[in-house]
Amino acid sequence: MKTGFTNRKSLKKLMNALKNANELMIGYPVAKDFDFSELYPSLKYVINNVGDPFIESTYKVQTHKTERKVIDFFAQLLRANPKDYWGYVTTGGSEGNLYGLYVARERYPNAMVYYSETTHYSIKKNIHLLNIPSIVIRSQENGEIDYEDLQNTLLNNRHIPPIIMANFGTTMKEAKDDVSKIKSILKILAIKSFHIHLDGALSASYGNFIEPRIPYDLQDGTDSISLSGHKFIGSPFPCGIVITKRSFRDRIANDVAYIGSLDTTIAGSRNGHAVLFMWYAINKMGVEGLRKRYEDSLKMASYCKEELKKSGISAWSNPGAITIVFPKTSEKLTHKWGLAAEGDITHIICMPSISKEQIDNFIIDLLEEKNVNIS
Ligand SMILES: Cc1ncc(COP(=O)(O)O)c(C=O)c1O
Repeated sequence: MKTGFTNRKSLKKLMNALKNANELMIGYPVAKDFDFSELYPSLKYVINNVGDPFIESTYKVQTHKTERKVIDFFAQLLRANPKDYWGYVTTGGSEGNLYGLYVARERYPNAMVYYSETTHYSIKKNIHLLNIPSIVIRSQENGEIDYEDLQNTLLNNRHIPPIIMANFGTTMKEAKDDVSKIKSILKILAIKSFHIHLDGALSASYGNFIEPRIPYDLQDGTDSISLSGHKFIGSPFPCGIVITKRSFRDRIANDVAYIGSLDTTIAGSRNGHAVLFMWYAINKMGVEGLRKRYEDSLKMASYCKEELKKSGISAWSNPGAITIVFPKTSEKLTHKWGLAAEGDITHIICMPSISKEQIDNFIIDLLEEKNVNIS
């Protein structure tokens, strides 16, 4: 019997397909400008970060200490109270959203969840999973929550503790809800028991570099924040970060003898490589590198918007956003360029790996299709 890997032809075909798709994709928020080759030797190990990252477990092939460093970095970036924070490296933004909602529900078992129309589908799914009553709030045209609708709706339910799922970078328009406005509404209505979770999948990684600043972080009054690691930071596999208060996580901690740790995370076995890759990436860039990464992306977004406008396409963006929104393109271009479309709009997200050449080539395609003479 023949043993060993024999399907070389299929593998080559698959690798080529991935390479081609990766080169063209400009519509999804993934940074592709990374080089993790120094970490390849780690692929020889089953790195499993099962259990709480802040507790030494009996499973030793893990990167818990490194995970704590990653959490420390993001806790500082998101201005957590240095004496009261906790978090872990998740499978992605969706798990972080589930965690935020879970912690909130444990704080307020009889709560009502409020989320805006433009909220990511993971939140609706998570609300369904946890079986919490919820109300959808209108969104403004730019994708930001409609504060007036939020206030009126909260007013009718003042007796029920609200869990507010704020957005910091909605999927299609990269709209950001202002957490200080949400807090003011709660204050006006004298609501004292609440939890604000922030879905910062894309933009929480650079929120503190946006000028003028839009209040969103833990010091601004959010109680939990989720972000994706494979988006702005860049990682070859999906991952994310969730940060909340240590005191909130204490409410859900269960002691598990088998792993010699506390069961404080959603998943049991957890990806220890993701931790290593996140740590490597943040060490390479540091806070100033991250700031520059955002500034460069913003410049590219400005170039993209202006070039589209010069070509007669009604492109626009939210303040500080690296996402340029414009009318939906044909199916052919949507597929060729990996563009996400919803309703009558699509977008280019000017992630760190996007080049002027890609934007120019996309516009040439767009204009050719519209039969515009560009000679
Ligand atoms: C606003 C928003 N929230 C959450 C998510 C989910 O993140 P992940 O894909 O990392 O689970 C996304 C993904 O695109 C998103 O755009």
